[in-house]
Amino acid sequence: LGALVLGGGGTVAYLYSQAKINTVGQVDFDNALAVPPLAESAIDGNGARVFRLEVQAGERQFKDGPATPTWGVNGAYLGPTLRASRGEEVAVAVHNGIDETTSLHWHGMHLPAAQDGGPHQAVEPDGDWTPQWTINQPAATLWYHPHPHGQTGKHVYRGVAGMFILDDDQADELNLPAEYGVDDLPMIVQDRRFHDDNTLDEDASFISSIGILGDEILVNGTMGPYREVTTRLVRLRLLNASNARVFNFGFSDDRGFDMIASDGGLLAAPFRTDRIQLSPGERAEIVVAFAPGETVDLRSYPNSPGLGADAPQLRFNGGEDSLDVCRFTAAAELTDETEVPDTLGEAPDLDLDDVAAERSFELLGFEINGESMDMNRIDFGVRVDTTEVWEVVNVDGDTHNFHVHDVQFQVLDIDGQAPPEYLSGWKDTVQLATSKRYRLAMRFSEYTDPNVPYMYHCHILFHEDSGLMGQFVVLGEDEAIGRVPESTGAH
Ligand code: C2O
Ligand code: CU
Repeated sequence: LGALVLGGGGTVAYLYSQAKINTVGQVDFDNALAVPPLAESAIDGNGARVFRLEVQAGERQFKDGPATPTWGVNGAYLGPTLRASRGEEVAVAVHNGIDETTSLHWHGMHLPAAQDGGPHQAVEPDGDWTPQWTINQPAATLWYHPHPHGQTGKHVYRGVAGMFILDDDQADELNLPAEYGVDDLPMIVQDRRFHDDNTLDEDASFISSIGILGDEILVNGTMGPYREVTTRLVRLRLLNASNARVFNFGFSDDRGFDMIASDGGLLAAPFRTDRIQLSPGERAEIVVAFAPGETVDLRSYPNSPGLGADAPQLRFNGGEDSLDVCRFTAAAELTDETEVPDTLGEAPDLDLDDVAAERSFELLGFEINGESMDMNRIDFGVRVDTTEVWEVVNVDGDTHNFHVHDVQFQVLDIDGQAPPEYLSGWKDTVQLATSKRYRLAMRFSEYTDPNVPYMYHCHILFHEDSGLMGQFVVLGEDEAIGRVPESTGAH
């Protein structure tokens, strides 16, 4: 199955080289790519847009043979795409229809901590939770997934996740591909492993330092997907929703494409590249041009020439081989009504003359600064309406990234160097190259409550579940850190 090797930080890891990994040429591409439906919503008496989401158990026919028992949202696997505009009030009526305590977290969303859906907003079996907040951030591709303490990996792996697209007027005025399901496609990319009876193989101990790593690639829950496109330009909203695998996306003919958005929304200008690397939780929107009648495959490649020598090292990505992700076939005639403009959104512009605090975070094993996550310990408080700079370092040889709830941050520099262009926009999750110092600037503008924390953590879900996570609160001017109420999901 693989070779036992000793990682740089003394961690024991299996190099994953199982023969049946679907490296290039082993995927038939005989299933039409599923596109998650847009979630229905209704406007309530107070003008809020209300969505209804039920986490439920079901079965999905991924492949020949028996159907696979799964979890999903309003369906058997994954969930509908939520969509709302800047300035809108939204409410989500969440019902937990599975027999385990779960939660739904709005990854990338700027909102009060009590609405965030982290481990303290746990929803018991048969329980309900209705967070409500105002969308107050630029157009972006966000997503939602469970965040129950210690169980996030399992719940996401079984299928609970979906996209949350935000719109705003500025983005609407651009003539980008924007017709959902036609030239604007969600691409929720995940790896999964199946037992011979088609049940999901959930054994996270197989690769001891990284957790679950699949050998089949699914896009929107479709294995071996193909998609016919009918327009010259197509926008792909790429989301790495895997538990651990890092993808380095590119096309089989190495064609260039325009990256137009990162986690927090549009870049200032399109970034022309032929590869884009995403660690778990990260998103990138890209626009690809097709020629009539052609076929080209989206793949994940083992290394990242387009991203420079400093790109974080890829591990557990299929070894030397490329992985097939999705086949695109262009119709014989393509419409051509959209374009990628030279300027897109606003570059991050935080005022660094006025940094209220600097903090440092060292990720090692399953700990941050020598501490493992404790639901009852709030690690620190930040002051509302201030800007901070966080220096984050991955000090072991393992793959880690760093995600902060509530805010989008700016990558100021990496070991003192300006970040590469693909990290120039707003981010909420960044992959950490070993030993490099990432300085992240962020502004906290949502006063919440001294007792209800936000999370920061590694988004390799096995690491998060194993303790590589901490908690912070956003405090008023003279306020002290509070205490996590006993009942808030600590179990
Ligand atoms: Cu997407 Cu705290 O997570
Ligand atoms: Cu990690």
